[in-house]
Amino acid sequence: MTDNDEFRKYEIGGAYHWKWYLADYLGYRTFVRNIMAELPNAGRVLDIGCGDGLMSFASFRRGLSVFGIDNNELAIGLAEIVCADAVAGKFEAAFQAVGDDALSPDAQARKSARAAAGELVFACRSAFDLTEDGAFDCAICVEVIEHVAEPAVLLAKIHRAVRNFAIITTPDGTGETPGPYDHQIWTPQAFYDFLGGYRFEKLDLRSGTIAVKLFRD
Ligand SMILES: C[S@@+](CC[C@H](N)C(=O)[O-])C[C@H]1O[C@@H](n2cnc3c(N)ncnc32)[C@H](O)[C@@H]1O
Repeated sequence: MTDNDEFRKYEIGGAYHWKWYLADYLGYRTFVRNIMAELPNAGRVLDIGCGDGLMSFASFRRGLSVFGIDNNELAIGLAEIVCADAVAGKFEAAFQAVGDDALSPDAQARKSARAAAGELVFACRSAFDLTEDGAFDCAICVEVIEHVAEPAVLLAKIHRAVRNFAIITTPDGTGETPGPYDHQIWTPQAFYDFLGGYRFEKLDLRSGTIAVKLFRD
């Protein structure tokens, strides 16, 4: 039994994060752009609970080397298929139509070589199997922690995996009841309390979302 055996959104909606991005559904495109603006342009990023790979690809597109993990096999299958098309440039016109900057001819030409060199890799793997210590410059863990039974264990895994920082987001649960895929939700203050002794900075990425930058040191 994994934490998301019942996470059926991919069966129902396919690669729905890509659709959300292009449609800016619930402000998702702005949210992604705000997350990307917090990341460096180079280095190695771990995308924990990467789903269908939209944020992994956005990170790769800005120059990062990406390792995306998710314990949902269908999600990883979608991430691999859709990202292969994205690397080949099939969505560049769609991205530019929604206001993303065009890639330089050099960056566009290098995408396939970068992907072939292992700069955009996915694995069907639980975040709880992470054993890496400082193997990534940074990590993103976006709308995942509310879905797991042991969030404190996940937090420790994320903290250990990075050299610099991790961006963690979760829906603001103020006045809400947990959804069908949620183990728990937090108010902002309860989430900051949950982060306890870790050093972190609050981020404002989207209304209705709690977001922090959690530092390794
Ligand atoms: C709401 S989706 C978020 C996807 C992506 N981070 C985004 O925001 O675009 C939550 C994801 O967390 C994944 N997930 C849940 N528990 C996990 C675990 N223990 N290890 C890895 N992934 C997990 C789910 O399969 C799902 O793809």
